[in-house]
Amino acid sequence: MPDRPLAPQRPRGTQDILPREQPLWRRMTDAADTIASLYGYRPVETPILEETSLFTRTAGESSDIVTKEMYTFTDRGNRSLTLRPEGTAPVVRAYFDGHLDQEPQPVRLYYQGPFFRYDRPQAGRYRELHQFGIEAIGDAHPTIDQEVVEVGWRWFERLGIRGVSLQLNSIGDAVCRPRYRDALREYFRPYLERLTPEDRGRFERNPLRLLDSKDPDSVELLADAPKTLDYLCEACAAAFAEVEAGLRQAGIAFTINPRLVRGLDYYTRTTFEYWHESLKGAQNSLGGGGRYDGLAEDLGYRSTPGIGFAIGLERSAMILAGLESPAPAGPAVYAVGVDGADLAVLHRLVSDLRREGIEVVSDAVPGKLDARLRKADRRNARLALIVGPDELARGQVVLRDLRQKTQSAVSLDQLARAVERGLRG
Ligand code: HAM
Repeated sequence: MPDRPLAPQRPRGTQDILPREQPLWRRMTDAADTIASLYGYRPVETPILEETSLFTRTAGESSDIVTKEMYTFTDRGNRSLTLRPEGTAPVVRAYFDGHLDQEPQPVRLYYQGPFFRYDRPQAGRYRELHQFGIEAIGDAHPTIDQEVVEVGWRWFERLGIRGVSLQLNSIGDAVCRPRYRDALREYFRPYLERLTPEDRGRFERNPLRLLDSKDPDSVELLADAPKTLDYLCEACAAAFAEVEAGLRQAGIAFTINPRLVRGLDYYTRTTFEYWHESLKGAQNSLGGGGRYDGLAEDLGYRSTPGIGFAIGLERSAMILAGLESPAPAGPAVYAVGVDGADLAVLHRLVSDLRREGIEVVSDAVPGKLDARLRKADRRNARLALIVGPDELARGQVVLRDLRQKTQSAVSLDQLARAVERGLRG
């Protein structure tokens, strides 16, 4: 016997979302549709593939996402393309490509879909991940910051995800950040010897990323490091005060986190993350976002402010899976044709029920009735429709309530009404 060839494997860091997980995913995407539209955000979809420069020019040459984690390849036309690692730069590109800059501002958009990052997979970290994200583009006013933060907050609320803590910071803008960057360098300079090579690289290229360091030595040093909030220019400080006041008014509790800089380089002013107590270590962030007032210009468009967030659906699903949820609904009706019955009648009855909007799984495969009723039970069906030759001869079928374990004969022309009654009961 020749060996069977090895079956192809699911790529590392990717997951199937199987039918049994779909109800939970559907709850997340439905909640996103509902909450986003309550606040006037409209759906947008952008390609899974983009020109590589869209990400290298915006997410930053010093961010891990761009330097190490992109799925980049050359296509047959010799163009460098990248599987999107994040949604903000693509949405800003679409905003200009689609002339949304001509519409009343800000333009409120939301999206859901897959993103790709070539990272070392572990619990809560995947190579294909899904996000729900929103972007409000074209208005720099802090009330928009508050609105965006609130939309994410309400999404968690709607899903019953408790224990989310909102981490908030401002990292200033092109006016005040250089001063802060210098102060941070000055602070770390005497300790350069103690830093890991990676952190020394951060010191050189983008000292703000030192705030993100996981190295115990750097973390210890960070306790006394200068804080972004102490270096904000007047305009950034005033904007931040308004964001804080707005959130308080909306009844949304937050924690000021002076070390929150985020993993992408395009941020200015407000940055925030939603953390969850049950997620450990570096993967404790359910979502995050911030302002990106310089991003459009970095891409070569007219300077246009924007703010948004993205929430990771895999991480949110991990939490939702631990909460009590209703048993997955099965089909309303499981239709079984008993051996010797006229299957044409079964098909017609099933079609009629579906036309009435009733969900039916049809099992006309010959076999023992008992075994097939057990299948109906395991699928969590409500009713079994049993079509047998003896009943058919009398113009009837049997309808069995699989929960109550009762059954009765129903005449063919009364079937739809009897099924509806059975489903209500
Ligand atoms: P991000 O912080 O890179 O932000 O990603 C947002 C969320 O996506 C994370 O908090 C996490 O829940 C999830 N996520 C990221 N990487 C992975 C991964 N490898 N596996 C599983 N989940 C992951 C952004 O993407 C920005 N575009 C957010 C934004 C929108 N900023 C402004 N507008």
